[in-house]
Amino acid sequence: MAIHYQRENRIFTLHTEHTTYQMKVDDFGFLLHLYYGSSISGDMDYLLTYYDRGFSGNPSDAGNDKTYSMDVLPQEYPVQGVGDYRNNALIIHNADDSDCCDLRYVSHEIKEGKYELPGLPAVYAPVEEAQTLEILLEDAVSGVRVKLLYGVLAREDIITRSAVITNCGKEEIVVEKAASSCLDFLTGDYDLLSFYGRHTMERNLQRAEIAHGSYVIGSRRGASSHQYNPAVILAEKGTTEEAGGCYGMLFVYSGNFLFQAEKDQYDQTRVIMGLHDEQFHYPLAKDESLIVPETILCYTDNGFSALSAKYHRCIREHICRGRYGRQSRPVLLNSWEAAYFDFSGETIVELAKGAAELGIDMVVMDDGWFGDRDDDDRGLGDWYVNEKKLGCTLRELIQKVNDAGVKFGIWIEPEMVSENSNLYRAHPDWAMQIPGRGPVRGRNQLMLDFSRKDVRELIFNQICAVLDQGNIEYVKWDMNRSIAEVYSAVNHPGKVTYDYVLGVYDFLEKLTQRYPDILIEGCSGGGGRFDAGMLYYTPQIWCSDNTDAVDRLRIQYGTSFFYPISAVGSHVSAVPNHQTGRCTSLHTRGVVAMAGTFGYELSTGKLTEEEKEEIKEQIRQYKRYSELIQNGSYYRLSNPFQDACAAWLFVAEDKKTALLNVVLLENHGNMTITYIKLNGLAADALYEDVETGKCYYGSALMRGGLPMPAEKKEYPAYQMEFRMVE
Ligand code: GLA
Repeated sequence: MAIHYQRENRIFTLHTEHTTYQMKVDDFGFLLHLYYGSSISGDMDYLLTYYDRGFSGNPSDAGNDKTYSMDVLPQEYPVQGVGDYRNNALIIHNADDSDCCDLRYVSHEIKEGKYELPGLPAVYAPVEEAQTLEILLEDAVSGVRVKLLYGVLAREDIITRSAVITNCGKEEIVVEKAASSCLDFLTGDYDLLSFYGRHTMERNLQRAEIAHGSYVIGSRRGASSHQYNPAVILAEKGTTEEAGGCYGMLFVYSGNFLFQAEKDQYDQTRVIMGLHDEQFHYPLAKDESLIVPETILCYTDNGFSALSAKYHRCIREHICRGRYGRQSRPVLLNSWEAAYFDFSGETIVELAKGAAELGIDMVVMDDGWFGDRDDDDRGLGDWYVNEKKLGCTLRELIQKVNDAGVKFGIWIEPEMVSENSNLYRAHPDWAMQIPGRGPVRGRNQLMLDFSRKDVRELIFNQICAVLDQGNIEYVKWDMNRSIAEVYSAVNHPGKVTYDYVLGVYDFLEKLTQRYPDILIEGCSGGGGRFDAGMLYYTPQIWCSDNTDAVDRLRIQYGTSFFYPISAVGSHVSAVPNHQTGRCTSLHTRGVVAMAGTFGYELSTGKLTEEEKEEIKEQIRQYKRYSELIQNGSYYRLSNPFQDACAAWLFVAEDKKTALLNVVLLENHGNMTITYIKLNGLAADALYEDVETGKCYYGSALMRGGLPMPAEKKEYPAYQMEFRMVE
């Protein structure tokens, strides 16, 4: 049993293979947090201390006991209004206009299997591999009930947390803030690793000390955003890739989120992950509930590599669904950087023929095939095929592509509408706009109100009518702007940000059910909605609109802390690169794109014979390693934000094969030598470098490292396979 309850002292203990999580219901019925970290034995309530702390309020049940205060005690689900002045997980606005919710323990249940969250993505597992703890808390005055959910995947060292807030009182309440997880630490100094960025430069790593005060990241953009990813690591000082304690918090949600870290007056640390509290005022009538998206928690004392490995496994095995979860993905050729809006059916067929010649599996027809979408200022919402532009029907085009020997995929952006579209002319109120105010445009487009079922249904039917026209085996689902006007013609504005995301999930759920064999790739101007919520529906996401190999090294490095390689859409594009103007060799671009679901984004017609031969070899190479790349263990061997190289390694589960990848970033006169230290190998085993036949012990490669050549080249890349000598 991974979950224990001790009746005599009301202590709950969750055990995973290497970690323990403990909490306690105290004499007043408050749920206090006791411990989370490496496995321990015994009861940790001895850690709680009680002293008279000035200006820290005492709940009425404590009478004149000035030593009891919620302002100091570690808690599971801190609320506003009970004398805790730190950041809290829940704010309820009551019918009497007070903001208070005094949650006390009512009951609990321990269940086999992992809980599900209706309408929301969540970790799943076979019933025998997980357990659920539900703890019911209640505010006796308002009747608000909060069910805290804990999912324990013991073998994976994963604990998930969610909360269901139900109004069991008589009057309407408004949820003003709701988080799914809070971790309170009585001791320790921590660094926070977070992933910030911008369009075409997502998920840069930042490591900063959690100092006194509050540190906040989040998204107000309606999507999880390019700017801050809903994933953070709390690391003990000095933690490295290979050693040290670190906690991960990954929010399984694709909309507005809020993460807060705080070091308080007594040097205690509190971290909270949940829904953003701005533009969120969620009314709950009697008996209505709000489900807070879950946070996936994980702890390891073996450094960031070990933490990443656990998240990679969790996402691959317990988030991604459908046949593509573990299956090798097709190598695809996308039309966007090859032709942008300027293509005909003939262009796509030519790309297909070029793809077939090179060994590429699939051609994707990107933006521009529908309505009168010849530019980005029109056509969104009109999901009917522009047969005039294609010069044939979609069915005919797909047939021609299939006849060339490649699969066919297509791009859609269902959540959007152009003002210059038939849809907008017919239903202007379907776009999110505030009456009486001019629209805030993003990429010339408006957002459809996906919090509305009728809107979703019409778009769903339009999209299905397209997908039913032929053998479509892949869909790229895009979203190219942020929400600005949080407003709906029919829905309560305070519900819009949340209901919108649930609307997207509802649409995706229906789509995946109707087309279980279609591979869907998520996208939001590249990596603007790269999160675990989307990965529940789309097993891969276009990582960034930036295809420059050197920038991609950094973007993919940041992405790798939480997300597995199988989730990372990555393509080789033409040079000079369209985003940066930089030239890198085809080899370097290939090595970088192989740290993802591999593909191409260029015009095959412009390739020289020499380039074609190289691409054929790249594809053979990728296919040879695709299982190792997608499902093997991934190790970061350098930090490309600081080091003179980017290096990463894939190691097979049985450690018998490893693929080392290196790109050198610096090139100077009389160049110094870069040594790469490998990781994750069997220390005592002998490994052969397949190309040179040279043999090294695992321990030598990991401790001594491997010298890289000092070539007179810019951004040279090396890919070396090592095989264990039996
Ligand atoms: C977004 C995507 C691109 C491409 C364009 C099409 O920017 O990220 O890959 O699909 O839209 O408009």
